[in-house]
Amino acid sequence: MSECLCHGDSFSISDSPSRRQWMIATLGAGSALALTAITPFVSSLLPSERAKAAGAPVEIDIGKLPPGNMMIVEWRGKPVWILNRTTEMMTALKKAEPMLVDPFSERQQQPAYAANETRSRKPEILIAVGICTHLGCSPSQAFTPGDPVLGADWPGGFLCPCHGSTFDFAGRVFKNKPAPTNLEVPPHQYLTDTHLIIGSDETEKA
Ligand code: FES
Repeated sequence: MSECLCHGDSFSISDSPSRRQWMIATLGAGSALALTAITPFVSSLLPSERAKAAGAPVEIDIGKLPPGNMMIVEWRGKPVWILNRTTEMMTALKKAEPMLVDPFSERQQQPAYAANETRSRKPEILIAVGICTHLGCSPSQAFTPGDPVLGADWPGGFLCPCHGSTFDFAGRVFKNKPAPTNLEVPPHQYLTDTHLIIGSDETEKA
């Protein structure tokens, strides 16, 4: 099980929010907006402490995350993946390149410091929002190369169960799939070698 070290929460890939759950969350947000509309105008100008906390950056320690393992933290209501890639996973990134829609991250789905071949600040550490760019499902781990379901040339990565979009170990979408773009890389920065903050960086303050 992947541990979420923030807010005392804990969940694994298999029990991360499904699309339905995300839709419920969206509906909930819509309801909240509707309620806001009938509250006095002055209070609508003053975001609650809870609302501010919900958008706050998340600090985490990845010092105990072994290679090949992934943890998930929640930031702004979204699951953010932190994957410590193995040497084999790094090799798979190169193998996947010809099969990808945007292998060099030319579309604006990441901060400038992650527009590189690993889409990351540290080569081995992937940080990405785990929400499919098609219709918002949460992709699952499909780490095994040559997975019989995905074909002999499958280099390993993630599979979105809703409509079959696939992503590599850098969150880059494969060609001829419904998802139009790579997964989003959120703003983040390292405070130490193993301590990082998600939701804020040198240029963007949350
Ligand atoms: S929501 Fe992921 S493929 Fe449709």
